[in-house]
Amino acid sequence: MKPILIKDLLTSAPDGRTVTVCGWVRTKRDSKNLVFIQVNDGSCFASIQLTYDRSNPADKNEVNNIEEALKNTATGASVRAEGTLVQSPASGQAVEVTLHKLTVLGTCPQESYPLQKKNMSMEYLRENAHLRARTNTFGAVFRLRSQMAIALHTFFQERGFVYIHTPEITCSDAEGAGEMFQVTTLSLEKVAELGVKAGAKGMKPEDAYKIVDYSKDFFGKKAGLTVSGQLEAETLATALSRVYTFGPTFRAEKSNTPRHLSEFWMCEPEMAFFDLFDDMDLEEEFLKYMLNWALTKCADDMQFFEKRIQPGVIAQLQHVVDTPFKRITYTDAVKELQAFNSKFEFPIEWGKELQTEHERCLTEQIFKSPVMVYNYPKDVKAFYMKQNEPDEQGRITVRAVDVLVPGLGEITGGSEREENYDKLLKVCEERGMDMKNYQWYLDLRRFGSVPHSGFGLGFARLLRYITGMANIRDVIPYPRAPKLADF
Ligand code: 4AD
Ligand code: MG
Repeated sequence: MKPILIKDLLTSAPDGRTVTVCGWVRTKRDSKNLVFIQVNDGSCFASIQLTYDRSNPADKNEVNNIEEALKNTATGASVRAEGTLVQSPASGQAVEVTLHKLTVLGTCPQESYPLQKKNMSMEYLRENAHLRARTNTFGAVFRLRSQMAIALHTFFQERGFVYIHTPEITCSDAEGAGEMFQVTTLSLEKVAELGVKAGAKGMKPEDAYKIVDYSKDFFGKKAGLTVSGQLEAETLATALSRVYTFGPTFRAEKSNTPRHLSEFWMCEPEMAFFDLFDDMDLEEEFLKYMLNWALTKCADDMQFFEKRIQPGVIAQLQHVVDTPFKRITYTDAVKELQAFNSKFEFPIEWGKELQTEHERCLTEQIFKSPVMVYNYPKDVKAFYMKQNEPDEQGRITVRAVDVLVPGLGEITGGSEREENYDKLLKVCEERGMDMKNYQWYLDLRRFGSVPHSGFGLGFARLLRYITGMANIRDVIPYPRAPKLADF
């Protein structure tokens, strides 16, 4: 008989029908005549209780088989059980299953099972990433991750957006920050050999890559893993009007922090005919929608995060859902921070990028609400952002916006894009970009150019915020970070 998911079982009426349950044993209590086994299959937070009363077996022919199976029914073992679904006399659970049959599908030797220890640290569980989904914490995280992906698609689908797939392998570095992983089939031995020759010619051997002939490489030019699908999304938005990407993104920066992954999923909506303020409206609506989804549709798992991971997380999310986001220009935000006069590790002045401490000061101390900071200095932002007219002091800002939330800092970043061909070309040249790779992007500004805007949400950053997990490596099944690509 096909098993019923425990999630469905727990919401069923205790109607005395026979059911099959499969899962992994969490605990077993065996006292004289009564045996209680908690089985979890990951379909929901709760486990189902199997009970066996030796003084009153349902099927006398199965007694020996059950006793044999019970010997191997230790924590972590996988079992298939058949029994009657009845009302539970115990508190905290509506139903339980009285055993007719029990089969151990896979035993679990207790001496070597890694999840036996009490109070396992997150680091320890990361070293056992292949098993950690069986814990309460990671079961909750991965169910929530799935729910939030559905929430994301539902939000955009309800609003007429087209879901698009942008390439993972690309020759353009969207953020212009030079932090891509390279994709090559050139042999490293060959490059080393070139290095030796380069050394002989007076060039430093480690500069050998500069004389590599990429026309011989797989794609005929230097290629890498995408840092953002935005530029390609712009090409589709200027045909389909409203689009979004949702897929893997790679960053090779050596940021060994609880906020950075080398591989993460990013969602990037891009909207033709949207200006910066339309973009901000959508970002606010989107974030509220996502957090509200977590609070209402993942209530059991959220209760666990509240109790065991970050007390206060539910109130923090509810606050973001309920509070209008404060909107302030970068120039005014800098004035507020300077007037606040707290001792920052990185002193703030106009022209510098805001650091996390500044972002958190704005949301947690000055405004006590989510904050959208917009119109940043041109030099701290990416090349594609639309320029504003110079201010009274001749300073140029771009129509960028970062959304900051209490307890975190930046959660999404976006902008209105420069749609003027000449202005965009000038910035590309100023930044020394290799224009061969961007001709297609400039073409959008030659043929039916339109104002357009978009933003990017790091999916793992959002999950970390919702769950309260301290480290971003713990909201993705197999994290990739510097020196971390195990499993
Ligand atoms: O701010 P970023 O670099 O913006 C872009 O890539 C734009 N192309 C977005 C757009 O306008 N379409 O990255 C966007 C988001 C950040 O706000 C952050 O949430 C996340 O991506 N992010 C990371 N998440 C995990 N690990 C990293 N190393 C991340 N770098 C950025
Ligand atoms: Mg950003």
